[in-house]
Amino acid sequence: MPLSIVILAAGQGTRMKSSRPKVLHTLAGKPMLQHVVDSSRALDPEQIIVVVGHGADQVRAQMSSQNLDFVEQTEQLGTGHAVAQCFTTLNDGNDVLVLYGDVPLISMSTLETLLTNSAGDSVNILSFLAENPFGYGRIVRHSNNSVTAIVEEKDANEAQRKITESNSGIMFLSGDHIKTLVEKLDNDNSQAEYYLTDVVKHAVALDLKVNATICGDASEVLGVNNQVQLAEIEGLYRTKQARQLMDAGVKLYDPNRIDIRGSLQTGADVEIDINCIFIGDVVLGDNVYIAANCIIENSTIGNNSRILPMTSIDNAVIAEGVSIGPFARIRPGTECADGVRIGNFVETKKARIGLGSKISHLSYIGDTDMGASVNIGAGTITCNYDGVNKFKTIIEDDVFVGSDTQLVAPVKVRRGSTIGAGSTITRDTPEDQLTLSRSKQISMPGWSRPEKK
Ligand code: UD1
Ligand code: CA
Repeated sequence: MPLSIVILAAGQGTRMKSSRPKVLHTLAGKPMLQHVVDSSRALDPEQIIVVVGHGADQVRAQMSSQNLDFVEQTEQLGTGHAVAQCFTTLNDGNDVLVLYGDVPLISMSTLETLLTNSAGDSVNILSFLAENPFGYGRIVRHSNNSVTAIVEEKDANEAQRKITESNSGIMFLSGDHIKTLVEKLDNDNSQAEYYLTDVVKHAVALDLKVNATICGDASEVLGVNNQVQLAEIEGLYRTKQARQLMDAGVKLYDPNRIDIRGSLQTGADVEIDINCIFIGDVVLGDNVYIAANCIIENSTIGNNSRILPMTSIDNAVIAEGVSIGPFARIRPGTECADGVRIGNFVETKKARIGLGSKISHLSYIGDTDMGASVNIGAGTITCNYDGVNKFKTIIEDDVFVGSDTQLVAPVKVRRGSTIGAGSTITRDTPEDQLTLSRSKQISMPGWSRPEKK
């Protein structure tokens, strides 16, 4: 039977104490709901329905153009009511997997196991063994171990409260029975809610097969109700990612002090010092060293390159054997060829820097095409902006630019040029000559410093 996934995301999340809908709070830089959608997508379902309520417009806007079906539940009358709202949108006869938008760590492999185990079941609940089951629905089993009911904390008797097997909320419902079972739900309970969990007792009454699959890793089904739990989940997520990196052979100076907000691919013998943040898609080649406190976003760093402390690299391509930092800011569109050296307090943007070129100190290089073996002196600025338009600077191979030079674009510094320190270069320079623009140095005999009046 084809599969539809229903993600419940209508709840308010009052305890987050935030104007943002709960499911849009981020985990590793990505909304919790997006994590659930991504895990769902990996199961290749025929449709994904998101039940929205509180902050529905915000959720829709943030999650648009992902081929999701949104169903609005204007009043939150319970998890059973939420699923019932989907019937007009749900592809008829499909099996349904119910997920929660605030349970973001659920893995694709756990869901796959649940689905595989569900063959022939009318209902299969993903349960877990809770250290402290308080607040969760409890899985009630017959002496022959078959599941007979789920009882909510508030409706449970003393014996039932002692049960540790708990309902994660994640549940498989067969397409053959979902409508029959959900239509039977009522709100005759302590919270006057339509409990989705009551499908279990109705299925049992109809002699249908009900199962619960115990999730081996209870941390996967942790829900988020407040900022503390969100931070805990962030920690678990970080631990898991750090673990994967270390398993892949990466040396992490402290696995508790790395953040990966996206995907990080690593080669052999990579070392990452503390407090680094990787955002989006980052690729590190073999033998790359990232020093402390670097932020690297959507960039590739080639083999044997070293990124020194406090460096920010955003949307850049760094080739092999490059050294960048400390305190460098590499902005989008920077491409460094092999062996480039970029030192402290250098900013680059839309700059192609050729083989072995060096920008060692205190420079801004933007909208620039730089050849090989160029040496840029300290304090060199490409003046690329006239307040309205941006212009390009071209620096050919083997150029030497003296310190404190302004290159006023558009300008071309031809091959082999040497620029005298302190120059303002406004016209193209000839090859292999010294060019400088400096007023003559003068001294004034008899001059004295002003005196205080
Ligand atoms: C639910 C389960 C409980 C389980 C627990 C796991 C029921 C009756 N109880 O309880 O057995 O142990 O989750 O965390 O199902 N939601 C809607 N619309 C609604 C109500 C809820 O979309 O009308 C969404 C919420 O946004 C949330 C999820 O459903 O993502 C669960 O709702 P919540 O109120 O947290 O359920 P619990 O009472 O914790
Ligand atoms: Ca809950």
